[in-house]
Amino acid sequence: MEILKNKKSLEDYVERQKEMGKRIGFAPTMGALHKGHLSLYEAARKENDLVVSSIFVNPTQFTNALDLEKYPRNIQKDIDFLQNSGWIDAVYIPEVADLYPEKTASKSYQFNGLEKEMEGAARPGHFDGVGTVVETLFRQVKPDNAYFGEKDFQQLAIIRNLAAQLKLPVKIHGVGIYREENGLAMSSRNERLSPAERAASKLIYETLQKANGWFRVVSIPEIKKRVSEIFSEEPVMILEYFKIADEETLKETDFFYKDRNYRAFIVVNVNDVRLIDNLHLD
Ligand code: PAF
Repeated sequence: MEILKNKKSLEDYVERQKEMGKRIGFAPTMGALHKGHLSLYEAARKENDLVVSSIFVNPTQFTNALDLEKYPRNIQKDIDFLQNSGWIDAVYIPEVADLYPEKTASKSYQFNGLEKEMEGAARPGHFDGVGTVVETLFRQVKPDNAYFGEKDFQQLAIIRNLAAQLKLPVKIHGVGIYREENGLAMSSRNERLSPAERAASKLIYETLQKANGWFRVVSIPEIKKRVSEIFSEEPVMILEYFKIADEETLKETDFFYKDRNYRAFIVVNVNDVRLIDNLHLD
């Protein structure tokens, strides 16, 4: 596995591979790698000649200084993890100046209103930060295919929109949520939960599954009421929001139409760890 520590070494690598006609699959990350990331690499391996990943904790997408400070970082552990996985050909670990040569600031984007819903409303500026770093990474890595987890379903929709509006020659793939044994969606932030909090967090997926069972049986306001009641009985788990939204527009809805697809989205805070999850409703 090649370790590319700056933009120049990445660009030389990419040029060599492109000259040989290799198709590059790319999965960007912020490190603290776990089995969920492996599922991205596995998908990339199937459809490309090479798999490239990146590790960069992107400051412009954090809207809370404490969250940025506490974000788990252990580069050597991540490199060992990638090496042992056997899925990866190269990892790009840029410095801030490789991605932000002038100023560590976001560009301003419009993603057809997708950026205003849910996480966009809860974390203003977050998707400008994601868009800025992903656009720059795409321009540097020049992947044919790029892979993102469905845990961040709104991010995935926004990255599809970004690639389409900028006409970037990359195909975006969503990869299903990888869950721990108790159903908790795998996330780098899970590292910050105590064993008891981790066990209690199974309530999130259990509740999403209940909501799926109630969908099209009772009204959406009634589902929301039941979900609030479940979390009000669990004092360590603070429900930040639960919404049912159209899968394409991401607009929250209180009614459903037969021919549209819907998804439940949830954010729960456990201590100061913000856990996010979602489930397609059928
Ligand atoms: O999902 C993530 O880990 C990040 O938002 C991403 C896409 C790597 C951009 O920093």
